[in-house]
Amino acid sequence: MTYDKAELVALDKKHVWHHLTQHKNFEPAIYVKGEGMRITDIDGKTYIDAVSGGVWTVNVGYGRKEIVDAVAAQMMELCYFANGIGNVPTIEFSKKLIEKMPGMSRVYLSNSGSEANEKAFKIVRQIGQLKHGGKKTGILYRARDYHGTTIGTLSACGQFERKVQYGPFAPGFYEFPDCDVYRSKFGDCPDLGVKMAKQLEEVILTVGPDELGGVIVEPMTAGGGILVPPAGYYETIREICDKYGLLLIMDEVVCGLGRTGKWFGYQHFNVQPDIVTMAKGVASG
Ligand SMILES: Cc1ncc(COP(=O)(O)O)c(C=O)c1O
Repeated sequence: MTYDKAELVALDKKHVWHHLTQHKNFEPAIYVKGEGMRITDIDGKTYIDAVSGGVWTVNVGYGRKEIVDAVAAQMMELCYFANGIGNVPTIEFSKKLIEKMPGMSRVYLSNSGSEANEKAFKIVRQIGQLKHGGKKTGILYRARDYHGTTIGTLSACGQFERKVQYGPFAPGFYEFPDCDVYRSKFGDCPDLGVKMAKQLEEVILTVGPDELGGVIVEPMTAGGGILVPPAGYYETIREICDKYGLLLIMDEVVCGLGRTGKWFGYQHFNVQPDIVTMAKGVASG
């Protein structure tokens, strides 16, 4: 296809609000085509896309004809019906997904990673309302982890820079320390994973276990620095969750769907989550 670059650039500057971008003196790059792992800009220059669509999203690459054909065929068959009713793709997809996640049983579909995490928070809170008389509704999140862009997920955001201008936040969210081995205050010790995980317990005891219903973590902190927790960390996190009756939510929005070499990031560790959230790679954008 041919494009009028000058016109598109002018229209972009006039009408498009780009995220995480300083718009003063901004000359937008415009990408027009993707094929496999290569992306081509409006001048015809091709690049290797080492960032899967900029934000770890296009996990199986660009221009996958089999996906395009399947989506087109389904849109002709039945493009939408609210999920209070069953439909064939949802049923088949859920079965396939669950096969990759031993120990899990059901899939709830939503529209983004932020919304998936909001759902997980709502599940924790609903259990608190129904089973604990309105207690155990609090959520613990880890410093340096990111869970989305909504006010709810920013309330559970461990990255100060991403939330600083958007308060006030939702109540009932509490931070516990990160798992950055490189800058660990515990130094290099054989039980580092256990020591780091026990920091979660300290926060639980400060807030009060009766207030708390869930813990959310990225299996490996992604945008916050690519932090892989040390051996023993998640086993201890699981033990602490069981001790205090907390659901363990693994946010696989980045790590999931093969990005770390297994189907899900948590599967590198000896841990069984209660809820797993995902987005990005699950539909490859
Ligand atoms: C770990 C993690 N969780 C959740 C999200 C939010 O996903 P979405 O942008 O689909 O709302 C992101 C987005 O970058 C993420 O990195």
